[in-house]
Amino acid sequence: MDADRRKEILATQKPEIPWANEPALGGYYTEAEFEAVRAEMERCNQPHIGFNANAPITREFEEAFAAWCGAGDAIANNGAGTGLDMAMMCLDLQPGDEVIVPAINFKAAALSVLGQGGTVVWCEVDERTFQADPEDIERRITPRTRAIYPVHMNGMAAPIDVYLEIAERHPHPQHGPLKVIGDAARSCGAKLHGKRVGSWEWICVFSFHTMKLMTTLGEGGAVVTSDPAAAERMRKIRGFGGDIWGTNYKLTNVQAAVGLVQLSRIDGMIEQRRAVAHERNELLAGLEEITLPHCPDDRWHTYYLYTCLVPREWAGEKRDRLLQLMREDYGIPCVVANPPCYQSHAFLREHTDWSDLPRSEELGKRLFCPPTHPLMSTSDNEYIAAALWETVERVREE
Ligand SMILES: Cc1ncc(COP(=O)(O)O)c(C=O)c1O
Repeated sequence: MDADRRKEILATQKPEIPWANEPALGGYYTEAEFEAVRAEMERCNQPHIGFNANAPITREFEEAFAAWCGAGDAIANNGAGTGLDMAMMCLDLQPGDEVIVPAINFKAAALSVLGQGGTVVWCEVDERTFQADPEDIERRITPRTRAIYPVHMNGMAAPIDVYLEIAERHPHPQHGPLKVIGDAARSCGAKLHGKRVGSWEWICVFSFHTMKLMTTLGEGGAVVTSDPAAAERMRKIRGFGGDIWGTNYKLTNVQAAVGLVQLSRIDGMIEQRRAVAHERNELLAGLEEITLPHCPDDRWHTYYLYTCLVPREWAGEKRDRLLQLMREDYGIPCVVANPPCYQSHAFLREHTDWSDLPRSEELGKRLFCPPTHPLMSTSDNEYIAAALWETVERVREE
């Protein structure tokens, strides 16, 4: 993008939507969702019916979601945080049992390991894809390792096929092959070798939180598995247990009604995100210092976030200066998603060993994500790209 064109865009195309670094509503609703809410509310608005979460529409949503993912079953619940807890409960961790978790991550997966009394073993991520690095995972496996716990980072599938092969090659002495559990909170619909996340893992966890790719009125999630015993167990955990411990992690039936409509629309919303990302790739082509998102040929990226990298020499101070200028001079906030998650979480810092993660520490100082959204117009995308070009040139010269 040449300098004249940039100046013109910045002068005339200031976005009307004040784009947040990670927009507060990740998808959007249409008349169909409003109608679905109304219909379910009307059905429930009677003393003998009420808002029972175990309604037929909740089961319908679970079946549709499982089928869409290519998994045997889905358990709808109130969020990915609790979904990750449910998955960890199925491991029956004993003190000293280890679970391998990428350090470049959201905090929830590691917290779920600690919550069940396990030990978090952090691993590094691949520097181009931000997914847990298979070689580093293998290096960190011990006889106490029970599971590999990757996050499908920022909208792209992690190489689960490779992790599964590692899991087979390093069985636990009592429990057999390691379990592979996915956190797909940001990657609903992402594909590896043409198959969606959720179809690969022992258990995979999704979020329908307001910021995510599809949403169920603020909070919500689902856990999918093709292991009937795990499905039964998580269903019980979600609804006050029985022969096992349980509590209330239910999704409401009105949320399930919204989820069903969102599910019918999510492919379209992802296509819109992909179009924004591909357009941005072209707008930023040639901007030397910025490494654009990399999607290997075997993946299909949902672009929940558009994850960029500054050069090594810009790690830390210069990256932060870039983000400051983007925010203050152009009104474009970018999110650092994510630095190693123990850095900003006192409990994780205190209860995990984070002494040997040089690559993650460095990546945390280099990555950043300019805003993206399915409804972002070409004009706004151009403005963001122009702002980034200008900012990079300014930082280069400082
Ligand atoms: C990767 C990841 N895992 C888990 C969660 C937790 O999701 P929820 O808000 O649905 O509990 C999030 C939410 O931001 C996330 O990004």
